[in-house]
Amino acid sequence: MILGTVKEVKNNEFRIGLTPSSVREYVHHRHQVLVESNAGLGAGFTDVEYQAAGAEIVNKAADVWKRSDMIVKVKEPLESEFGYLREGLLLYTYLHLAANEALTHALIESKTQAVVYETIMLPDGSLPCLKPMSEVAGRLSAIEGAKHLEKPFGGSGVLVSGVPGVPGAKAAIIGAGVVGENALKMLVGMGADVTVLDINLNKLTYLDDIYGNRIKTLFSSSDNIEKAVTEADIVIGAVLLPGAKAPKLIKRAYYKNMKPGSVIVDVAIDQGGSTEVSKATYHDNPTYVVDGIIHYTVANMPGAVPRTSTIALNNATLRYGLMIADLGLDIAMNRSEPLKLGVNIYQGNCTCEGVCEAFNLEYVHLG
Ligand SMILES: NC(=O)c1ccc[n+]([C@@H]2O[C@H](COP(=O)([O-])OP(=O)(O)OC[C@H]3O[C@@H](n4cnc5c(N)ncnc54)[C@H](O)[C@@H]3O)[C@@H](O)[C@H]2O)c1
Repeated sequence: MILGTVKEVKNNEFRIGLTPSSVREYVHHRHQVLVESNAGLGAGFTDVEYQAAGAEIVNKAADVWKRSDMIVKVKEPLESEFGYLREGLLLYTYLHLAANEALTHALIESKTQAVVYETIMLPDGSLPCLKPMSEVAGRLSAIEGAKHLEKPFGGSGVLVSGVPGVPGAKAAIIGAGVVGENALKMLVGMGADVTVLDINLNKLTYLDDIYGNRIKTLFSSSDNIEKAVTEADIVIGAVLLPGAKAPKLIKRAYYKNMKPGSVIVDVAIDQGGSTEVSKATYHDNPTYVVDGIIHYTVANMPGAVPRTSTIALNNATLRYGLMIADLGLDIAMNRSEPLKLGVNIYQGNCTCEGVCEAFNLEYVHLG
């Protein structure tokens, strides 16, 4: 198979679909790989590294799209790329189609096959190609919280760790999933006094077993959320209700009892956010202030660390990409149920229930 990867055209997106190390694996499996010239620079990968791994460097993105059987990307194609979609092309990337009607129609009409990272699902319901980005966002949320407590960033001027004789920051993490656990690891490491809230008691029990007295766990009732949020210097919003908007658990009424210059890092912003005043921001202007409280609400946090994010993403996506390349999509999806769940558009049909529901399209079940 001929695989290709191109530079992402989305604003401030520096990740890339394939690392040189992944290229080497595909080449080892006797596939040909095309890489658009300089496409990896934002993530710190040079053309020379791709060539050494066996890739052919191609000057124009259009030629990569035209010559490839499978395009491996990070973000969804933008309208400027719709012209590259065609019958026989396989697209392997994040798409979030339920929020993108124009792209859904473009894929269906062009008969492009779309295998999307975010719906590849293991039998236990976990999403292996989404997890690495939640790990990155969770760890980064602790760093952003600590950074924005600094006075030059508008914060209250508390050093997260404290120093001998002076207490450090208090933190509240709402939602103890992948994001929450990774934020916890970092905040405990930095010496913060952390309270974790979740409605899942098994998760709280697990964290209590691991961290013992170094953290506090609380059931996520309104009372407990209010208490933890109003005492905290850093609040991390990390709740997920699969397939639904994030609940507005952090009420604006709580702000008057919080310390001015405290920080809310609302990681769940991509699902609408956890506060009543949440609105998405970008890396070039990531925060805004409401009632003296700093809100950090960047919807693509992993984009801030494209090198780490690209490598973490490739660690998860390579396995399924190789299956498709080695076996062809039809055989690969019949052998792998998780991969089959990643197929959203197949032969001009919508094959993902959520996407079909969103746009009133006929759902074709892949038997
Ligand atoms: N902003 C970004 O760049 C970025 C990056 C990655 C993930 N995210 C988002 O972060 C959020 C969390 O993702 P995740 O991978 O950790 O999800 P996850 O499914 O692993 O964890 C979600 C947790 O929320 C808990 N929860 C549900 N309802 C709750 C409630 N009322 N109170 C407290 N906890 C509750 C669940 O029990 C679960 O433990 C999602 O919205 C995800 O899309 C954002």
